[in-house]
Amino acid sequence: MKKLIAPSILSANFSKLGDEVRAVEAAGCDWIHVDVMDGHFVPNITIGPLVVEALRQVTKLPIDVHLMIENPDKFIPDFIKAGANWVSVHVEEGYHLDRSLNLIRDLGAHPSIAINPATPLSAIRSVLSLCDMVLLMTVNPGFGGQKFISYCKDKIIELKKEITSKKLSTLIEIDGGVNTNNIGDLSGLGVDVFVAGSAIFGSASYKKTIEEMKKSIG
Ligand code: DX5
Ligand code: ZN
Repeated sequence: MKKLIAPSILSANFSKLGDEVRAVEAAGCDWIHVDVMDGHFVPNITIGPLVVEALRQVTKLPIDVHLMIENPDKFIPDFIKAGANWVSVHVEEGYHLDRSLNLIRDLGAHPSIAINPATPLSAIRSVLSLCDMVLLMTVNPGFGGQKFISYCKDKIIELKKEITSKKLSTLIEIDGGVNTNNIGDLSGLGVDVFVAGSAIFGSASYKKTIEEMKKSIG
């Protein structure tokens, strides 16, 4: 499958969010990554379904919603109704992960499990076949602009092995600290979807940065 770039709007200019999304779409990105934070699961608060609904009007690209919230089941229907195509639920928060993943699929979106750097992959093993993607956090969730945590490379390798050995088609998405310098190496480990916030929205030319990233991931 073609490898994908998903700019995280967390680092966009929120005062002109629609224009920012149009700009990264025009610059050639593949998905729009939306970070939803509730101030409980992570020490930051961002946006809710209303913003997803508004963004649905300005882009045709798949919207990739990353839920960093308590009680995800309560809000999953609202986000899908608003236009989310992919929904990631954290294994650390989803007490009923099986139910959450099935709910996402039943409502017509792609289910994904998100997992923090310090959480071992064994936590998601039993439900791997229920999801279309695993979102490996490569920084501690909550903020953009952090440094890639290097031990996460081992988790990418381990997860890729497991997906291959089980003959699954689950995508691997990484989120946090991805930039034009490290994206090539990370791609070589088997990553399919690259979230990048500050590296894209903090750059002078979104087009140049996305083109450079695409060249490095082949
Ligand atoms: C962090 C978010 C990320 C964040 C990535 O909790 O999940 O999506 O925006 O930002 P960068 O690419 O700047 O590390
Ligand atoms: Zn994210």
